[in-house]
Amino acid sequence: MGKKVILSGIQATGNLTLGNYLGAINNWKKMQEEYDCNYMIANLHTLTIRNDPEKLRNNTLNLLALYIAAGIDPNKSNIFIQSQVALHAELAWVLNCYTYMGELSRMTQFKDKSAKHADNINSGLFTYPVLMAADILLYQADLVPVGEDQKQHLELTRDLAERFNSIYGETFKVPEPFIQGVAARVMGLQDPTSKMSKSSSIPNDSIFLNDEPDIILKKFKKAVTDSENVVRFDIKEKPGISNLMSIYSAITGKSKENIEKEFEGKGYGDFKVAVAETVIEELKPMQEKYKELINNTDYLEKIYRQGAEKAYSIANKTLEDVYKKIGMIL
Ligand code: TRP
Repeated sequence: MGKKVILSGIQATGNLTLGNYLGAINNWKKMQEEYDCNYMIANLHTLTIRNDPEKLRNNTLNLLALYIAAGIDPNKSNIFIQSQVALHAELAWVLNCYTYMGELSRMTQFKDKSAKHADNINSGLFTYPVLMAADILLYQADLVPVGEDQKQHLELTRDLAERFNSIYGETFKVPEPFIQGVAARVMGLQDPTSKMSKSSSIPNDSIFLNDEPDIILKKFKKAVTDSENVVRFDIKEKPGISNLMSIYSAITGKSKENIEKEFEGKGYGDFKVAVAETVIEELKPMQEKYKELINNTDYLEKIYRQGAEKAYSIANKTLEDVYKKIGMIL
């Protein structure tokens, strides 16, 4: 029995947050031994909003360096850049022809993003989940680690795989979502009722992975709490403190109960400093490695070229099968 296949990706939009790290990359690292992992840098998806080309190129390479700095090992996992494997766009076109307008209209992310970018509701934004389905199905992924916000897209991916398989016979593996444990959802420090976001407009709401230690400390000190002054987990009544506890727990592995005991009789001030120090220590090795890698463009190029080659050879098998079945001449 071979290992189960994993595929996941993050959009190359720059400025990753602690949420991306604890909710995704840090878990990806742990999966490398047990699974056959493919980690993609989703740069085609970023075209659904307007980008500066030079920035996009930089963001793409920065994300690659960050994956490696965070411990994704190119010798264990396949790391590649989406646009370098043209088959993604090809399969997306085919799948578009098997996806109903009604299905895409129901996607909550489409509704949210259209509201946010009312001046640029392009058809890429609408078919975004179809490209994501192509990313996943090309690799015959068994499991797709995603956050809550991507679950609906994964549901659609499953529907498309099943639809295609039922017309043409077994072609695609129907993937399962792989929702990660406690820390899967890191919330904003200023608005702990919404997810920590790369693009939050609220100052001090997000911890960025390249924040210097003094900035991290400052942001945690300013984090919104409540007036009880007791470190206790209660998402409804105490979303701020609960979020800080989740972050602390995700890094230290301590249970909520143990954290409550640890800070019994201590105020929020002490707790915030402890969380900040833990985060600073956790990010330090990655930040150092990142600074080293980002200037080593030859090395980065070697990794993405080798990744694209490997990705192509896997994806091409799937696409050839699809093309044969639907009547394309090979
Ligand atoms: N849409 C995902 C996000 O914004 C990124 C993504 C693109 C992805 N393709 C994927 C995630 C395939 C998992 C699998 O987070």
